[in-house]
Amino acid sequence: MFLSIGLAIIIALLSLTSSQTCKLNKYDQCSSNSHCAWLQLGGDAEGGVCAYIGDSCFSNLVPCENDNVTCVQSNAICVKHSRCHKRSVCYSMKLADPIICPPLTTTPTISPSSNATDGLCTTATWQSEGQTVAGGNGHGVALNQLAHPTGIFIDPNDNDALLVADSSNNRVMKWDRNASNGQIILGDMKAGNRSDQLWYPQYLTMDKQSTLFVIDSNNHRVQRLAKGEKNAETIISNINARGIALDQEEQQSLYLTVMNNQGDQVVKYTKNGEFQQVIAGVRNGPALTQFRGSQQLYVDRDGSVFVADSSNSRVMKWSLNASVGEIVAGGTGVGINSNNIGSPASVFVDRLGSIYVVDTYNERIVRWLKGALTGTIIAGGPGLGSSAKLFEHPKDLAFDREGNL
Ligand SMILES: *[C@@H]1O[C@H](CO)[C@@H](O)[C@H](O)[C@H]1NC(C)=O
Ligand SMILES: *[C@@H]1O[C@H](CO)[C@@H](O)[C@H](O)[C@H]1NC(C)=O
Ligand SMILES: *[C@@H]1O[C@H](CO)[C@@H](O)[C@H](O)[C@H]1NC(C)=O
Ligand SMILES: *[C@@H]1O[C@H](CO)[C@@H](O)[C@H](O)[C@H]1NC(C)=O
Ligand SMILES: *[C@@H]1O[C@H](CO)[C@@H](O)[C@H](O)[C@H]1NC(C)=O
Repeated sequence: MFLSIGLAIIIALLSLTSSQTCKLNKYDQCSSNSHCAWLQLGGDAEGGVCAYIGDSCFSNLVPCENDNVTCVQSNAICVKHSRCHKRSVCYSMKLADPIICPPLTTTPTISPSSNATDGLCTTATWQSEGQTVAGGNGHGVALNQLAHPTGIFIDPNDNDALLVADSSNNRVMKWDRNASNGQIILGDMKAGNRSDQLWYPQYLTMDKQSTLFVIDSNNHRVQRLAKGEKNAETIISNINARGIALDQEEQQSLYLTVMNNQGDQVVKYTKNGEFQQVIAGVRNGPALTQFRGSQQLYVDRDGSVFVADSSNSRVMKWSLNASVGEIVAGGTGVGINSNNIGSPASVFVDRLGSIYVVDTYNERIVRWLKGALTGTIIAGGPGLGSSAKLFEHPKDLAFDREGNL
């Protein structure tokens, strides 16, 4: 039975994302394998990959497209390799596999957070043990407890306070950093449909004004709560919504994954709840135009929508105005291997296009670098449990401004 004990989330893996770490220079050592080196991305793009370069130049590398950024080959990334080639070249992601180039395991030095919004880089690694940052005191109703938490959000405009949809307690809680108790910001803990109540809230998000948007699932509505208010407004009713996200750039649109008469769809609304358009999804199924049991979603700066397509065991990307999606992680069936994702619940994409997935079935959080055909575990798994290294049915993920997960 898929019933979590509801102990808590937790999260909090210390990251190795200091600015020094991100700013590796070309050909810096980046791996315990001395045949691997840091290759910067082509063009002016930030970041790079730690890849196998061998002792001598490979003759079969083809130049990137004229923009010096794009590779048309699948599973390849455009990098500078000036020792061997004048132009940027397409490098197979297979040569950047952490199994070939294991990351250096130095002790992280955390530098003050930069104003970069995520600060994550392709060389970042996370500690293998997490710390409990909310709950962890058994399933319950006290302010230091949670009951089946689902969605989380870290508010960069409120000193990285953690918002938690405490689903079975019919409330949304806020935990300031290092706080041992949370505060209730919405819900009176009774399942109800008044404006100060919720009934099994699930995924949630927040805009830059710290206005909360939360899926009030059993009331089939989406609630909006302005900062400091006690009563929320219903902006969408009669809806079976699962995931919720704002566009990153203007924050004028709300994207929802919904299950309706047309099947599983991604639908766009204004922040006031006015319907705008269906973005993706035709009935439900395994085709590239379809989802099955879609969960949480993420919208990047380009307006591409990434969906945790749960029962299809994959993450889909729908580029702006696309009429068909592409598989960007998983899609190889349920399994425990590095190319599998099982029942993904949530997804996040960083500025460099790396995809972070809550691989619920495998009890792990995995990262798929842009273009990769396999992911690497950054937290949890294999197996489930309550130790600091493990998860039990993780549902969501979020990064703070320092890159902690
Ligand atoms: C791509 O790189 C080549 C060679 O380094 C350069 O001549 C060209 O201007 C670059 N193109 C763009 C669009 O940056
Ligand atoms: C950080 O902020 C400073 C000043 O506001 C700005 O000059 C700089 O470009 C910003 N850096 C990044 C990476 O956004
Ligand atoms: C949280 O606690 C850690 C260690 O106890 C401390 O270094 C950090 O400054 C605290 N953060 C805040 C926001 O209080
Ligand atoms: C709210 O709940 C009350 C009592 O359970 C019910 O009578 C009413 O129809 C509900 N209103 C809506 C809009 O669902
Ligand atoms: C997407 O569609 C909108 C409206 O139809 C259009 O204005 C915009 O240019 C399109 N963008 C791209 C990248 O195709």
